[in-house]
Amino acid sequence: MKKLSYLFAFIILFSGIKVKADEGMWLPIFLERLNYVDMEKMGLQLTPDEIYSVNNGSLKDAIVGLSSDPVPQGFFCTAEIVSNEGMMFTNHHCGYNIIQKHSSVDHDYLADGFWAMNREEELPNEELTASILNYMADVTDSIFLNLSDTLKGSDRTAAIKKITSRLKENAAEDGKYNVVIKSFFSGNEYYMFVYEVFTDVRLVGAPPSSIGKFGGDTDNWMWPRHTGDFSIFRIYTAPDGSPAEYSEENIPLAPKHFLPVSLDPVKENEFAMIWGFPGGTERNLTSSGIDFKVENFYPPIIEVFGKKLEVWKQHMSNDKEVKIKYASNYAGIANAWKLFIGQNKGIKDLDVYEDKKAFENEFMLWVELDSVRNEKYGEILTIIDESNVEKAVGYSTLIYASLTGVGGTELIGYAGDFSALQSFMEKCKEEKDKKKKVKKQNQIDTEIEKLKENIDEHFKNYDMATDEDVFAAMTEMYYDNIPKEMHPDLLNNLVKKFKGNFKEIASYVYSKSNFSTKAKVMAFLVDPSLKALDKDPAFILSREFMGSLMTASSNVKRSSDELTTANRLFVEGIREMQPDKIFYPDANSTLRFSYGKVMDYYPADAIHFDYVTHLSGVIEKEDPEDDEFIVPEKLIELYETKDYGQYGQDGKMIVCFLTNNDITGGNSGSPVINGKGELTGIAFDGNWEAMSSDIAFAPNLQRTIVVDIRYVLFIIDKFAGATHLIDELTIAKTTPPTVPVAVEVEVIMN
Ligand code: ARG
Repeated sequence: MKKLSYLFAFIILFSGIKVKADEGMWLPIFLERLNYVDMEKMGLQLTPDEIYSVNNGSLKDAIVGLSSDPVPQGFFCTAEIVSNEGMMFTNHHCGYNIIQKHSSVDHDYLADGFWAMNREEELPNEELTASILNYMADVTDSIFLNLSDTLKGSDRTAAIKKITSRLKENAAEDGKYNVVIKSFFSGNEYYMFVYEVFTDVRLVGAPPSSIGKFGGDTDNWMWPRHTGDFSIFRIYTAPDGSPAEYSEENIPLAPKHFLPVSLDPVKENEFAMIWGFPGGTERNLTSSGIDFKVENFYPPIIEVFGKKLEVWKQHMSNDKEVKIKYASNYAGIANAWKLFIGQNKGIKDLDVYEDKKAFENEFMLWVELDSVRNEKYGEILTIIDESNVEKAVGYSTLIYASLTGVGGTELIGYAGDFSALQSFMEKCKEEKDKKKKVKKQNQIDTEIEKLKENIDEHFKNYDMATDEDVFAAMTEMYYDNIPKEMHPDLLNNLVKKFKGNFKEIASYVYSKSNFSTKAKVMAFLVDPSLKALDKDPAFILSREFMGSLMTASSNVKRSSDELTTANRLFVEGIREMQPDKIFYPDANSTLRFSYGKVMDYYPADAIHFDYVTHLSGVIEKEDPEDDEFIVPEKLIELYETKDYGQYGQDGKMIVCFLTNNDITGGNSGSPVINGKGELTGIAFDGNWEAMSSDIAFAPNLQRTIVVDIRYVLFIIDKFAGATHLIDELTIAKTTPPTVPVAVEVEVIMN
């Protein structure tokens, strides 16, 4: 199938027709020039100005990038503003970490959901920011016209950095905006993004996980899906409307634009556009790059993550508190684990390698046709291939060293936090000069205070028994997969001492270390002793693990100047080869839109997947014995009484639907918008049959999984009774054409 699509691309290429498709994550500033006509034909009714305008409020002002950073360079998810008081919708899985942070056994918002019934109950979050794009600009010329052609490699990079810093400073208007400049098309173009960043973002509502994460990891990345994957936040500003840190004085944001919400049935083939911040794609990855991933990247990560999840799960299912503590980390790793398994499988199933290889052959044929081209592009694929082969050497060692060593357990990571203290103490001990010694002692005291402040944060989500078992598993994996000469001495000694029993090694390390319980850390910090630190097995291991990570890292040959140039030229060459094709840049966590249609698919021979799922499907999947498939009683009741209010359709409740839009991670929470600019759903996932889509778009199989906005509203209204939130929305519903009513007239005959 995939081969056919490349063939198709070539036919189109040589017949001079431009390629248009559901494929592509497009830049808003080019909407009018590149996509608008197409979009209009497909059902878009808004004008380009209503969608992207710098001077007037437009659709783009309702699109929000979520980050935990006050100066974000990228975004973990997308959200959309849906009321004139700064209310936003995003996914439940985007809010999951925040909901987890507010949860404890006494008020378990993950299990029970959370609904602020008034503004006072909305929960502030220290680590959540909301960015709205003010404008974007093409700065390619500003950079390249000031760049000397003779500059190569790191000199070129440094020169570009200097120019972009200046551009950023000018656009930031004294810190009013966060300005980000990113490279596109592998360094062939540069764009600047100017954002307003709001730092007071509060949690307003979230369904219980039995709705927001219904189907759990079993259903994750798959269709048919029945998940109400949404949560609700609100942006607050200073009284004058400007971004401000949390304060009671703050008021809800008055946005330049917010999305009205559609209650109309979502029909097959209807126009759908999705706006948001897709994180990263590698659509120009070469066949050797794929080889590298399949051979050296996926297997070790899949192994490590799988083992960690297994241990976590055991402990989580035995203890409610542990379940809350590890919920967010577990979900994140489980999501990535399944993604990597799916990508690996997708690459094989969809012949991605073979298609890339065929394309590279075409490219080389084109290059060899012309001597100038040959001069410019003749060597680049060889350089790329060689670098992938070189990078493969020692790569899996690097992965094990980082994921099972330094990053294997919480204890080891935490022990590493005491390195600065250790080095201050050592220096102080050696210092002879009295005055200088006092200064060094002050440094130590400040560091101790810092470590004390961090204690609660570290232990909040830590369970010793769990981490100890993780340690046993990770350290064994480390021992088995890292070359002997890189093994830490202490590890070798412990393996000898405990005859290779990693459970016993773990138990020794956790009982001897000062960092394995909160009480021990507090006691240690009262009067820290250098001797104790230097003897601490977790501390020693953290240093030794770090040492071998450095070795592993320096053994891996990664990007070189030559490779950077080759990658840039490859994309330049591909574009030159196909002058009539309109190219979109790879995702890089900048604002994009994609457009397509509501659409079903055929995942395998003789199987047809419809484009909608219903609440009846939730009931079908219900399994009170399986944590992932529990259905809340209230929802069953609403199903049985068919109490769907204005949200039902022909007596049914639609839960999710599919579109053929091109999205990726980071788009989670993105609005799905109809031709009238109304919100019809929230995108939250991709499908199993097209998991290799970040590397190659699969038009016949690739779908975006969306939670229907009517299900979202139904849950808010009927399930949670948070009608005040519904009242805040602007609801759009097409009134059916009025049918003339026959009036009976009584005729009185005389
Ligand atoms: N696969 C989705 C994504 O990466 C996340 C879905 C979260 N649900 C879950 N069961 N972990 O955007």
